[in-house]
Amino acid sequence: MSERQQFTTRFGAVAAAVGSAVGLGNIWRFPYEAGVQGGSAFILVYILFVCILGIPVITAEFIIGRHSGCNVYGTFRRLKASPLWRSIGFISILSSIMILSFYSVVAGWTLKYLINSITHFGQHHSQAALHEQFGGFIASWQAVLYTLLVLLINYLILNRGVQKGIERMSNIMMPLLFLLLIVFSIHSLTLPGAAQGIEFLFRPDFSAINSNVMLAAMGQAFFSLSIGLGCLITYSSYFSQRERLLPSAVTIAGLDTLVAVLAGVIIFPAVFSFGESPAAGPKLVFEVLPAIFGAMNGGAVWSIFFFALLLLASLTSTISMGEISIAFFAEEMHLKRKSATALVIGICALFGTLCALSFGPLSAITLGGKSIFDLFDFGSSNILLPLGGILISLFAGWVLGRKVVSKELSGVPRFVISLLLICLRFIAPVLIALVFISGL
Ligand code: TRP
Repeated sequence: MSERQQFTTRFGAVAAAVGSAVGLGNIWRFPYEAGVQGGSAFILVYILFVCILGIPVITAEFIIGRHSGCNVYGTFRRLKASPLWRSIGFISILSSIMILSFYSVVAGWTLKYLINSITHFGQHHSQAALHEQFGGFIASWQAVLYTLLVLLINYLILNRGVQKGIERMSNIMMPLLFLLLIVFSIHSLTLPGAAQGIEFLFRPDFSAINSNVMLAAMGQAFFSLSIGLGCLITYSSYFSQRERLLPSAVTIAGLDTLVAVLAGVIIFPAVFSFGESPAAGPKLVFEVLPAIFGAMNGGAVWSIFFFALLLLASLTSTISMGEISIAFFAEEMHLKRKSATALVIGICALFGTLCALSFGPLSAITLGGKSIFDLFDFGSSNILLPLGGILISLFAGWVLGRKVVSKELSGVPRFVISLLLICLRFIAPVLIALVFISGL
């Protein structure tokens, strides 16, 4: 077999992993979940989950991936794991394809709104008109077109491989994304009435914490950190021995949370400043924000910035989902990288089309009240991700155990390793299982 590719620099490796983590989950989903779940209470619980579940599970995925140096399915085969553990490989491939399919639909909406912001520069529409536009667009065949366009961009990047495709894109896109985020946050903070938005985000309100908030926060943490489906196992299989796994895991969790909070800082001051409701749900970004941009000084430019930001963030995430299955098909099924890429993107194009159409022509097809899009989202985010998370924690904690963990985390103090092992063996699986069951 030809020499396996690796990320060339530590910066590139971390940029790719942060790129995977930072996505629609941070800028689209986090603010609307926080808005619906009462703001600061949600954020508090969220940060707690990032610390006690997120960092340990990211580290576990990194340890597994670098230890095996192989795609997710091959990992468990190579480590001679029993069928139970090998099922992690299947869960990963299935759920990454499901997520990539519905995620591309929303990324497609973003692309459409970016193009609109440019072609309809400075046009102002009423909230009602925006509502109608958005509803009409997502129900139309145009939404399919944009989904496929997003997948095509993914194909073009992924086709170039790990170094020239994924790493190079991340090296360019991630710094740009952070720059945009910072400029944008400063602007939002200077809006009249911004304080109300900041208060909504940061004034602790413990009374609002309940089991729904906990479940939503955990699901969000898993999704946002890209954990539970072997995405980071795949990426870390391209890490070199120089990579320090624990500091990288902490950096990724920290930056991911920072971006989510900054997205809140961008959105909520504007929402309150323009007298809108923070609890608009999924349409917050596509209906409420455009109305705000329409009324804001220089809003036409901010609108372009915002949707460019969202698109950049989505693309570095979608390529990470695609890579999971591409590595699998290339290494396990011995396909050429080009063919593996075409196959994976092709499958997602098919499912993505179904997901996109489920807002329009296929909206009548439902199961338990859920549309095709919702089923893909719910099945992967709420069922497969937690399941994968439990198995990955147990595998790293019990099967690989202290010896491999210490070897991969060389230089990390013993008590930190013990703490991590306790988290992976007991705390994470039990906590995930509890929240998971209570949510079904
Ligand atoms: N974390 C990304 C986001 O916040 C989405 C994502 C990328 C993801 N790769 C993943 C989610 C793997 C779960 C698993 O938008």
